Amino acid sequence: MEIIITPDPAAASREAARFLAALIRKKPGAVLGLATGGTPVPLYRELARMHREEGLDFSGCTSFNLDEYVGLGADHPASYRRFMQENLFSLINLQADRIHIPDGLAPDIPAHCAAYEKSITDSGGIDAQVLGIGSDGHVGFNEPTSSLASRTRIKTLTRRTRSDNAHFFESESDVPHHVITMGIGTIMEARAVLLLAFGENKAEAVAGAVEGPITASNPASILQMHPQAKLYLDEQSASKLARRDYYRWVFDHKPGWQRDR
Ligand code: F6R
Repeated sequence: MEIIITPDPAAASREAARFLAALIRKKPGAVLGLATGGTPVPLYRELARMHREEGLDFSGCTSFNLDEYVGLGADHPASYRRFMQENLFSLINLQADRIHIPDGLAPDIPAHCAAYEKSITDSGGIDAQVLGIGSDGHVGFNEPTSSLASRTRIKTLTRRTRSDNAHFFESESDVPHHVITMGIGTIMEARAVLLLAFGENKAEAVAGAVEGPITASNPASILQMHPQAKLYLDEQSASKLARRDYYRWVFDHKPGWQRDR
């Protein structure tokens, strides 16, 4: 794992955007795995800026989002499709037919999940997967005790996640109980994983993921087994890491040729 501790979410997001931009410039047909929620908003703002001001070209890219609420259609204000449209897709030149988001209204959920997995494989696999982390350590919506080998499927949200996400809805009772999410096995197959975490509320989950045992009780801890997992943190989310001075030292002494890798 590479732990990148930055002063604030804007700086962390600029670092993550630099990595993605370097990937896209090197591989214009890159397959991007995308996340929703509050965390990636500054990253998407930076990617949109790079598109506008620096000509970063997404026209050859393909995207797969991690998850969607079951029961919410594209026009629901809290659906992840709507979120992506507003926060990224309307601001860059990704082609509509290359965008993939699980369909919260799919009539046959298991068949839809199997087809989603197949599209990822058919695209050549995800080059870089963006992740946030839940305060309970979930990635995608793989809640604690999810199988570390799981594939795209339906999951039931914990009470804590429904409460954490209530601010996207009119009230907590409007938060759906179920989601379709890529599995942990699906996420682990991405060639690079970029996890962003900001704020005190994430500090415990981050410390468990980085320095705790690998356990389904903190699903993000499986990233310890990933060959290219990069964690972009602000000071608050890094505050419970015992070895944070060492991570800073490593980053400050990174050879120049490694910077965009
Ligand atoms: C969203 C997702 C979730 C969020 C996590 C953190 O697509 O998969 O794992 O990344 O719940 O959410 P925020 O960023 O709102 O704190």
